[in-house]
Amino acid sequence: MNTIDGGKSLSGEERTQLLRAATAVAENAYAPYSNFRVGAAVLGELATYTGVNVENASYSLGICAERSAIAMAVAAGEKKIRGIAIACVDASKDSAARLPCGACRQWIYELAPSAEILVGGDDAPFRIEELLPTPFKFGKK
Ligand code: THU
Repeated sequence: MNTIDGGKSLSGEERTQLLRAATAVAENAYAPYSNFRVGAAVLGELATYTGVNVENASYSLGICAERSAIAMAVAAGEKKIRGIAIACVDASKDSAARLPCGACRQWIYELAPSAEILVGGDDAPFRIEELLPTPFKFGKK
């Protein structure tokens, strides 16, 4: 099946693999302040990239898992991100704490607009339009 922008939907196997990669990498999160470990995995056209949240004693300098994974994909030259999986391994089941924060939604809107967004514990993938219906737009967007 194809997506709205003509890309190919993720297969069940790709979804499983992406969620597995996000869950595995969450073990490497650096979250000594919140004790809330997050892993993310991004599927591009060339490869899969992972990221974790990395906190800092100067709290506002921390970065989320989703943005660290997306930055890796951008650095590798990916032009299209097909999927993003997010694993908040310390969140309780069904909690809204498993969903991406506002800043990460804005990054997904700009850098991965057609990605399937897979949230650990949820069956159906999200689209950015559902998570961020009124994004900030400026310049080229
Ligand atoms: N965090 C993420 O990594 N992704 C999100 O979308 C929300 C929050 C991280 C930031 C911080 O290190 C910890 O989770 C608690 O907020």
